[in-house]
Amino acid sequence: MRQDPLRCVYTRETIAARVREIGAEINRLYEGKSLVVVCVLKGAFMFFSDLVKELTVRPELDFVRLASYGSGMKSAGDVMLAKDVDLSLEGKHVLIVEDVIDSGHTMDFLLKLFAVRGAASLRLAVLVDKKERREVAVTPDFVGFTLDEGFIVGYGLDYAERYRELPAIYEVRAE
Ligand code: IMP
Ligand code: MG
Repeated sequence: MRQDPLRCVYTRETIAARVREIGAEINRLYEGKSLVVVCVLKGAFMFFSDLVKELTVRPELDFVRLASYGSGMKSAGDVMLAKDVDLSLEGKHVLIVEDVIDSGHTMDFLLKLFAVRGAASLRLAVLVDKKERREVAVTPDFVGFTLDEGFIVGYGLDYAERYRELPAIYEVRAE
């Protein structure tokens, strides 16, 4: 049983309040439009499920799974698509929902992949924008929180597949 020291960074209440605000922004922007909201598995599953409950725009929902090599604290920059969306994105407004942007490689890959699918617009919502290690310029349209440094877990985010179930976000200091 893993027991890394955890320090709370965003409480459940703080996250819930921010998710409601982002939901309201999304409702304003996409009012009357056909929207597809795409969850990036696994990390974004809690953010996505809380966020879509705030939406009044009657979106379609779909899921992708991306894999980058390594299960530790860094992604290697070598991204592949493990599961694609089932829906056609042609002519629709597409909003990608991701947990964290760190180096930027994962979202750079997905944005380029979706850019050629004929979507009416393509935007990105990220719960935590980490500024510490950006290697590729990726600018999200909706940002929950901005973090200068640290590795975080909980609310869907993992460290080697642990801690996804936690209802708040913690900084983990692995020994
Ligand atoms: P990027 O390709 O370096 O931007 O990495 C993005 C992916 O790495 C995210 O989708 C997360 O799954 C994972 N990741 C990056 N930083 C963290 C973190 O602090 N906690 C948990 N996962 C992270
Ligand atoms: Mg992720």
